[in-house]
Amino acid sequence: MASSFFLLTVVLLLISPSHAQPTCATQKFTNNERYDRCIDLPELGSYLHWSLDVAKDTVDIVFIAPPATPDGWVSWAINPTGEGMVGSQSLIAFTAANGSMVVDTYNVSSYGAVVKGKLDFDVTDKKGEYSDGVMRIFATVELPEKGQTVVNQVWQVGGSVTEGGVPVRHAFQPGNLGSKGSLDLLSGEISGGGNGNSKTKKRNIHGILNAVSWGILFPVGIMIARYLRAFPAADPAWFYLHGSSQVSAFAIGAAGWGTGMKLGSESKGVKYSGHRNIGIALFCLATLQVFALFLRPKVGHKFRFYWNIYHHGTGYAVITLGILNVFKGLEILSPSSKWKLAYIIIISSLGIIAFVLEAFTWIIVFKRKSVKVTKPNGDARRQSSAA
Ligand SMILES: *[C@@H]1O[C@H](CO)[C@@H](O)[C@H](O)[C@H]1NC(C)=O
Ligand SMILES: *[C@@H]1O[C@H](CO)[C@@H](O)[C@H](O)[C@H]1NC(C)=O
Repeated sequence: MASSFFLLTVVLLLISPSHAQPTCATQKFTNNERYDRCIDLPELGSYLHWSLDVAKDTVDIVFIAPPATPDGWVSWAINPTGEGMVGSQSLIAFTAANGSMVVDTYNVSSYGAVVKGKLDFDVTDKKGEYSDGVMRIFATVELPEKGQTVVNQVWQVGGSVTEGGVPVRHAFQPGNLGSKGSLDLLSGEISGGGNGNSKTKKRNIHGILNAVSWGILFPVGIMIARYLRAFPAADPAWFYLHGSSQVSAFAIGAAGWGTGMKLGSESKGVKYSGHRNIGIALFCLATLQVFALFLRPKVGHKFRFYWNIYHHGTGYAVITLGILNVFKGLEILSPSSKWKLAYIIIISSLGIIAFVLEAFTWIIVFKRKSVKVTKPNGDARRQSSAA
């Protein structure tokens, strides 16, 4: 019952369409200005509204984003020469020392100091606003190349600005690294930057493989061993079920682990040491478990007792660390909240099922014990009455 409920929930969450109207469509501006198009940008809780003037080769834009802290900055840029930060022709907004919002232009030629200066194209009517926790940049931007309405955009948020009014570098979370891509000003189509997009896909694959194996299949496999064994009828069957489910969980987990190691080696300068170290420890412990399967002494062997302690201890360590690391991973990936919710529902359903089965197992064990205890007495009584 509970399991069919959570399966249904997961399926609904997975297939639920995301055709709702974009959030940006509900955003209004103080001057009641209307723009032809808007999109919810895929990272950093940001939005872009714009109206393209094809005849003049200009575009009026409004960029909306929450700065990383109230003293921070937000930025939107076109990069005419590539994708990403280097070469981006940026508009950056923040609150100046006198309390008013400033919007300045920055020709970002390297990852080093960001220096105020003219851009490769004209920008007019710059204006900034800060209210309701979001900063807005208004500007009219000349297209870098006449008639070219597909541009590379980059957007960013940062946490602080120096006293001299220089934006301090932003964080290096996935959102900060993936906030770029092409923008088709005519159709409104966007795509993550080639790199950013495939990276997001890789991260999602990594997340799904690991959540399924370490976060769901391993705990289920342990439940099979612990609770099926209580039924004598399931005797050899539980062992093969447990073994095969853990070996397949290990195969999926190993693939997920490999994608994680690869992602780690590809993201230079970005370190999630906690998540990574737990992942490595998990993989080692699970590999030990596979060896344990082949090195298991026969039932009744004098080492079997120690083997059991070792095998069970390692198993519980694997599920504890596995579930912990799924949550750490969810924090890093920060997908839409339904994914975290789905995982919480699955893992708590498993917890409830385990709890019920645990109680059930203890009842069976006690019943068996009491049967064993009363039997000799019964026999004795029968003998005495016969005598
Ligand atoms: C506030 O400071 C900014 C930048 O230093 C300057 O451009 C702006 O004119 C100032 N505003 C007022 C009202 O003084
Ligand atoms: C922006 O920086 C690049 C690289 O330093 C330089 O080639 C270009 O001329 C600059 N653009 C302007 C408008 O100063």
